[in-house]
Amino acid sequence: MTKKPKQIAIYGKGGIGKSTTTSNLSAALSDMGYKVMQFGCDPKADSTNTLRDGSYIPTVLDMLREKGKVDAHETIFRGYNGIYCVEAGGPAPGVGCAGRGIITAVQLLKQQNIFEELDLDYVIYDVLGDVVCGGFAVPIREGIAEDVYTVSSSDFMAIYAANNLFKGIQKYSNSGGALLGGVIANSVSSDYQRSIVDDFVARTKTRVMQYIPRSITVTQSELSGKTTIEAAPDSAQAKVYRELAERIDAGASSAVPHPLDPQDLRAWAAKWADLILAIESGEVTDAAQAI
Ligand SMILES: Nc1ncnc2c1ncn2[C@@H]1O[C@H](COP(=O)(O)OP(=O)(O)OP(=O)(O)O)[C@@H](O)[C@H]1O
Ligand SMILES: [Mg+2]
Repeated sequence: MTKKPKQIAIYGKGGIGKSTTTSNLSAALSDMGYKVMQFGCDPKADSTNTLRDGSYIPTVLDMLREKGKVDAHETIFRGYNGIYCVEAGGPAPGVGCAGRGIITAVQLLKQQNIFEELDLDYVIYDVLGDVVCGGFAVPIREGIAEDVYTVSSSDFMAIYAANNLFKGIQKYSNSGGALLGGVIANSVSSDYQRSIVDDFVARTKTRVMQYIPRSITVTQSELSGKTTIEAAPDSAQAKVYRELAERIDAGASSAVPHPLDPQDLRAWAAKWADLILAIESGEVTDAAQAI
Protein backbone atom coordinates (compact mmCIF):
# COMPACT_ATOMS: atom_id res chain seq x y z
CA MET A 1 0.00 0.00 0.00
CA THR A 2 1.33 3.43 -0.86
CA LYS A 3 1.44 5.95 1.93
CA LYS A 4 0.01 9.44 1.79
CA PRO A 5 2.57 12.21 2.20
CA LYS A 6 2.13 14.75 4.97
CA GLN A 7 1.23 18.00 3.25
CA ILE A 8 2.00 21.26 4.98
CA ALA A 9 1.71 24.89 3.90
CA ILE A 10 3.84 27.81 5.04
CA TYR A 11 2.26 31.27 4.96
CA GLY A 12 3.31 34.73 6.11
CA LYS A 13 3.69 38.36 5.17
CA GLY A 14 5.76 39.18 2.06
CA GLY A 15 9.49 39.10 2.69
CA ILE A 16 9.17 37.68 6.21
CA GLY A 17 11.34 34.60 5.52
CA LYS A 18 8.91 31.95 4.21
CA SER A 19 11.13 30.61 1.43
CA THR A 20 14.27 30.69 3.58
CA THR A 21 12.55 28.86 6.41
CA THR A 22 10.76 26.41 4.10
CA SER A 23 13.96 25.50 2.24
CA ASN A 24 15.86 24.94 5.48
CA LEU A 25 12.95 22.88 6.79
CA SER A 26 12.93 20.76 3.61
CA ALA A 27 16.70 20.30 3.82
CA ALA A 28 16.54 19.30 7.50
CA LEU A 29 13.68 16.83 6.93
CA SER A 30 15.57 15.37 4.01
CA ASP A 31 18.68 14.94 6.19
CA MET A 32 16.44 13.04 8.63
CA GLY A 33 15.89 10.50 5.84
CA TYR A 34 12.52 11.69 4.53
CA LYS A 35 11.57 12.07 0.89
CA VAL A 36 10.58 15.69 0.54
CA MET A 37 9.00 17.80 -2.19
CA GLN A 38 9.08 21.58 -1.91
CA PHE A 39 6.30 23.18 -3.91
CA GLY A 40 6.68 26.92 -4.50
CA CYS A 41 3.30 28.63 -4.89
CA ASP A 42 4.55 32.11 -5.66
CA PRO A 43 4.52 33.62 -9.17
CA LYS A 44 8.09 34.86 -8.44
CA ALA A 45 9.08 31.18 -8.59
CA ASP A 46 12.04 31.69 -6.26
CA SER A 47 11.05 29.30 -3.48
CA THR A 48 13.44 26.47 -4.27
CA ASN A 49 16.53 28.24 -5.51
CA THR A 50 18.67 27.84 -2.36
CA LEU A 51 18.05 24.10 -2.67
CA ARG A 52 19.59 24.26 -6.16
CA ASP A 53 22.74 26.37 -5.80
CA GLY A 54 20.81 29.54 -6.56
CA SER A 55 19.45 28.35 -9.90
CA TYR A 56 15.86 28.88 -11.02
CA ILE A 57 13.67 26.19 -12.53
CA PRO A 58 10.95 26.45 -15.19
CA THR A 59 7.48 26.71 -13.70
CA VAL A 60 4.55 24.36 -14.21
CA LEU A 61 2.36 27.14 -15.60
CA ASP A 62 5.05 28.33 -18.01
CA MET A 63 5.46 24.79 -19.33
CA LEU A 64 1.71 24.37 -19.71
CA ARG A 65 1.49 27.67 -21.58
CA GLU A 66 4.33 26.68 -23.91
CA LYS A 67 3.41 23.09 -24.59
CA GLY A 68 -0.30 22.77 -23.80
CA LYS A 69 0.21 19.30 -22.38
CA VAL A 70 2.92 18.40 -19.90
CA ASP A 71 4.23 15.22 -18.37
CA ALA A 72 4.36 16.00 -14.64
CA HIS A 73 7.85 14.44 -14.40
CA GLU A 74 9.19 17.30 -16.54
CA THR A 75 8.10 19.82 -13.91
CA ILE A 76 10.08 18.21 -11.10
CA PHE A 77 13.75 19.06 -10.50
CA ARG A 78 16.13 17.63 -7.93
CA GLY A 79 17.80 19.79 -5.31
CA TYR A 80 19.96 19.33 -2.21
CA ASN A 81 20.00 15.71 -1.03
CA GLY A 82 17.59 14.75 -3.83
CA ILE A 83 14.74 17.03 -2.65
CA TYR A 84 12.06 17.29 -5.33
CA CYS A 85 11.59 20.93 -6.35
CA VAL A 86 8.52 22.28 -8.14
CA GLU A 87 7.51 25.89 -8.84
CA ALA A 88 3.86 26.43 -9.71
CA GLY A 89 4.58 29.81 -11.29
CA GLY A 90 1.91 32.37 -12.06
CA PRO A 91 -0.49 33.59 -14.70
CA ALA A 92 0.78 35.81 -17.50
CA PRO A 93 1.43 39.23 -15.86
CA GLY A 94 -1.75 41.27 -15.51
CA VAL A 95 -4.18 38.48 -16.31
CA GLY A 96 -5.65 35.53 -14.50
CA CYS A 97 -5.74 34.39 -10.91
CA ALA A 98 -2.58 33.12 -9.24
CA GLY A 99 -4.64 30.93 -6.93
CA ARG A 100 -6.11 29.07 -9.90
CA GLY A 101 -2.53 28.54 -11.06
CA ILE A 102 -1.75 26.76 -7.80
CA ILE A 103 -4.73 24.43 -8.29
CA THR A 104 -3.70 23.69 -11.89
CA ALA A 105 -0.15 22.84 -10.84
CA VAL A 106 -1.18 20.64 -7.91
CA GLN A 107 -3.79 18.87 -10.03
CA LEU A 108 -1.25 18.08 -12.72
CA LEU A 109 0.90 16.22 -10.19
CA LYS A 110 -2.06 14.57 -8.48
CA GLN A 111 -3.70 13.36 -11.69
CA GLN A 112 -0.48 11.64 -12.65
CA ASN A 113 -0.15 10.13 -9.14
CA ILE A 114 3.28 11.64 -8.69
CA PHE A 115 3.15 11.82 -4.88
CA GLU A 116 2.52 8.07 -4.68
CA GLU A 117 4.99 7.24 -7.43
CA LEU A 118 7.77 9.15 -5.66
CA ASP A 119 6.71 7.67 -2.32
CA LEU A 120 6.94 11.10 -0.70
CA ASP A 121 6.89 11.63 3.05
CA TYR A 122 6.42 15.40 2.93
CA VAL A 123 5.07 17.94 0.46
CA ILE A 124 5.74 21.46 1.68
CA TYR A 125 3.91 24.34 -0.01
CA ASP A 126 5.57 27.75 0.21
CA VAL A 127 2.67 30.13 -0.34
CA LEU A 128 2.83 33.83 -1.16
CA GLY A 129 1.48 36.35 1.30
CA ASP A 130 -1.49 36.15 3.61
CA VAL A 131 -5.02 35.21 2.75
CA VAL A 132 -6.29 38.49 1.36
CA CYS A 133 -7.15 36.88 -1.97
CA GLY A 134 -9.21 33.70 -2.00
CA GLY A 135 -6.77 32.25 -4.54
CA PHE A 136 -3.98 31.98 -2.03
CA ALA A 137 -6.29 30.21 0.40
CA VAL A 138 -6.36 27.31 -2.05
CA PRO A 139 -3.91 25.06 -0.14
CA ILE A 140 -6.03 25.61 2.98
CA ARG A 141 -9.51 25.19 1.59
CA GLU A 142 -9.14 22.64 -1.19
CA GLY A 143 -8.00 19.90 1.15
CA ILE A 144 -4.46 20.12 -0.23
CA ALA A 145 -2.56 20.85 3.00
CA GLU A 146 -3.50 19.40 6.37
CA ASP A 147 -1.36 21.61 8.57
CA VAL A 148 -0.46 25.25 8.12
CA TYR A 149 2.41 27.14 9.73
CA THR A 150 2.86 30.87 9.61
CA VAL A 151 6.19 32.66 9.63
CA SER A 152 5.99 35.90 11.61
CA SER A 153 8.36 38.33 13.28
CA SER A 154 7.26 40.52 16.19
CA ASP A 155 6.52 43.42 13.80
CA PHE A 156 2.91 44.48 13.80
CA MET A 157 2.36 44.01 10.06
CA ALA A 158 3.70 40.46 10.22
CA ILE A 159 1.39 39.72 13.13
CA TYR A 160 -1.47 41.41 11.30
CA ALA A 161 -0.86 39.06 8.33
CA ALA A 162 -0.71 36.04 10.65
CA ASN A 163 -4.00 37.13 12.23
CA ASN A 164 -5.58 37.38 8.74
CA LEU A 165 -4.34 33.89 7.96
CA PHE A 166 -5.96 32.66 11.19
CA LYS A 167 -9.26 34.17 9.98
CA GLY A 168 -8.93 32.22 6.73
CA ILE A 169 -8.20 28.96 8.55
CA GLN A 170 -11.08 29.51 10.94
CA LYS A 171 -13.44 30.23 8.04
CA TYR A 172 -12.66 27.01 6.18
CA SER A 173 -12.24 24.79 9.23
CA ASN A 174 -15.89 23.68 9.18
CA SER A 175 -15.60 22.46 5.61
CA GLY A 176 -12.55 20.22 5.95
CA GLY A 177 -9.92 22.96 5.62
CA ALA A 178 -6.44 22.82 7.07
CA LEU A 179 -5.61 23.46 10.71
CA LEU A 180 -2.90 25.62 12.20
CA GLY A 181 0.23 23.82 13.37
CA GLY A 182 1.80 26.94 14.85
CA VAL A 183 3.78 30.12 14.41
CA ILE A 184 7.42 30.08 13.31
CA ALA A 185 8.87 33.18 14.95
CA ASN A 186 11.49 34.44 12.51
CA SER A 187 14.00 37.23 13.15
CA VAL A 188 13.08 37.12 16.80
CA SER A 189 16.25 37.78 18.75
CA SER A 190 15.51 40.00 21.74
CA ASP A 191 13.43 39.31 24.86
CA TYR A 192 10.78 41.87 24.08
CA GLN A 193 10.32 40.51 20.53
CA ARG A 194 9.86 37.08 22.00
CA SER A 195 7.37 38.43 24.54
CA ILE A 196 5.30 40.11 21.81
CA VAL A 197 5.04 36.87 19.81
CA ASP A 198 4.36 34.83 22.97
CA ASP A 199 1.54 37.17 23.95
CA PHE A 200 0.01 37.05 20.45
CA VAL A 201 0.01 33.23 20.34
CA ALA A 202 -1.47 33.07 23.85
CA ARG A 203 -4.31 35.35 22.84
CA THR A 204 -5.04 33.50 19.62
CA LYS A 205 -4.75 30.06 21.28
CA THR A 206 -1.90 29.01 19.02
CA ARG A 207 1.73 28.17 19.77
CA VAL A 208 5.28 28.99 18.75
CA MET A 209 6.99 26.14 16.90
CA GLN A 210 10.45 27.68 16.98
CA TYR A 211 12.19 31.01 17.61
CA ILE A 212 14.58 31.70 14.76
CA PRO A 213 17.08 34.50 15.34
CA ARG A 214 18.16 36.87 12.61
CA SER A 215 21.56 35.61 11.61
CA ILE A 216 24.37 36.57 9.28
CA THR A 217 24.85 32.84 8.59
CA VAL A 218 21.51 32.88 6.75
CA THR A 219 22.65 35.88 4.69
CA GLN A 220 25.97 34.22 3.87
CA SER A 221 24.27 30.97 2.92
CA GLU A 222 21.77 32.76 0.68
CA LEU A 223 24.59 34.68 -1.03
CA SER A 224 26.29 31.37 -1.81
CA GLY A 225 22.97 30.08 -3.22
CA LYS A 226 22.39 27.55 -0.46
CA THR A 227 20.32 26.82 2.61
CA THR A 228 22.03 27.17 5.98
CA ILE A 229 21.58 23.44 6.49
CA GLU A 230 23.76 22.85 3.44
CA ALA A 231 26.22 25.77 3.70
CA ALA A 232 26.78 25.81 7.46
CA PRO A 233 25.56 22.49 8.89
CA ASP A 234 27.54 22.92 12.12
CA SER A 235 26.28 26.43 12.84
CA ALA A 236 23.95 27.36 15.69
CA GLN A 237 21.43 28.54 13.07
CA ALA A 238 21.37 25.13 11.33
CA LYS A 239 20.65 23.57 14.72
CA VAL A 240 17.66 25.89 15.11
CA TYR A 241 16.28 24.77 11.72
CA ARG A 242 16.86 21.11 12.61
CA GLU A 243 14.91 21.59 15.85
CA LEU A 244 12.07 23.14 13.88
CA ALA A 245 12.03 20.11 11.56
CA GLU A 246 12.01 17.73 14.53
CA ARG A 247 9.11 19.56 16.15
CA ILE A 248 7.09 19.55 12.96
CA ASP A 249 7.91 15.90 12.39
CA ALA A 250 6.92 15.01 15.96
CA GLY A 251 3.34 15.61 14.82
CA ALA A 252 1.54 18.81 15.34
CA SER A 253 -1.41 19.07 17.65
CA SER A 254 -2.92 21.34 15.03
CA ALA A 255 -5.98 23.34 15.92
CA VAL A 256 -8.34 26.05 14.78
CA PRO A 257 -6.80 29.40 15.79
CA HIS A 258 -8.79 32.19 17.46
CA PRO A 259 -7.98 35.37 15.50
CA LEU A 260 -8.37 38.73 17.21
CA ASP A 261 -11.01 41.03 15.79
CA PRO A 262 -9.71 44.36 14.39
CA GLN A 263 -10.48 46.44 17.52
CA ASP A 264 -8.87 43.90 19.84
CA LEU A 265 -5.80 43.66 17.62
CA ARG A 266 -5.51 47.46 17.64
CA ALA A 267 -5.87 47.61 21.44
CA TRP A 268 -3.34 44.78 21.80
CA ALA A 269 -0.81 46.65 19.61
CA ALA A 270 -1.33 49.92 21.52
CA LYS A 271 -0.64 48.17 24.82
CA TRP A 272 2.63 46.82 23.44
CA ALA A 273 3.59 50.28 22.14
CA ASP A 274 3.52 51.58 25.72
CA LEU A 275 5.23 48.50 27.06
CA ILE A 276 8.21 48.51 24.73
CA LEU A 277 8.82 52.17 25.60
CA ALA A 278 8.80 51.23 29.27
CA ILE A 279 11.19 48.36 28.52
CA GLU A 280 13.52 50.67 26.57
CA SER A 281 13.58 53.22 29.40
CA GLY A 282 14.28 50.48 31.95
CA GLU A 283 11.01 51.15 33.79
CA VAL A 284 9.93 47.58 33.05
CA THR A 285 12.52 44.80 33.15
CA ASP A 286 10.31 41.76 32.71
CA ALA A 287 7.82 42.11 29.85
CA ALA A 288 6.12 38.81 30.61
CA GLN A 289 5.36 40.03 34.16
CA ALA A 290 4.04 43.36 32.93
CA ILE A 291 1.40 42.00 30.52
N1 LIG B 1 16.53 34.37 10.17
C1 LIG B 1 17.04 35.12 9.21
N2 LIG B 1 18.26 35.71 9.36
C2 LIG B 1 18.77 36.51 8.38
N3 LIG B 1 18.16 36.75 7.20
C3 LIG B 1 16.95 36.18 6.99
C4 LIG B 1 16.33 35.34 7.96
N4 LIG B 1 15.14 34.92 7.45
C5 LIG B 1 15.03 35.47 6.23
N5 LIG B 1 16.10 36.23 5.94
C6 LIG B 1 16.36 37.00 4.71
O1 LIG B 1 15.24 37.80 4.42
C7 LIG B 1 15.05 37.90 3.01
C8 LIG B 1 13.60 37.48 2.66
O2 LIG B 1 13.46 36.11 2.94
P1 LIG B 1 12.55 35.15 2.06
O3 LIG B 1 12.81 35.33 0.62
O4 LIG B 1 12.68 33.80 2.66
O5 LIG B 1 11.12 35.76 2.41
P2 LIG B 1 9.70 35.34 1.81
O6 LIG B 1 8.72 35.49 2.92
O7 LIG B 1 9.79 34.05 1.12
O8 LIG B 1 9.51 36.53 0.76
P3 LIG B 1 8.40 36.62 -0.41
O9 LIG B 1 7.12 37.02 0.27
O10 LIG B 1 8.96 37.70 -1.28
O11 LIG B 1 8.33 35.26 -1.05
C9 LIG B 1 16.10 37.01 2.36
O12 LIG B 1 17.14 37.79 1.87
C10 LIG B 1 16.56 36.10 3.51
O13 LIG B 1 17.89 35.69 3.39
MG1 LIG C 1 9.30 33.53 -0.86
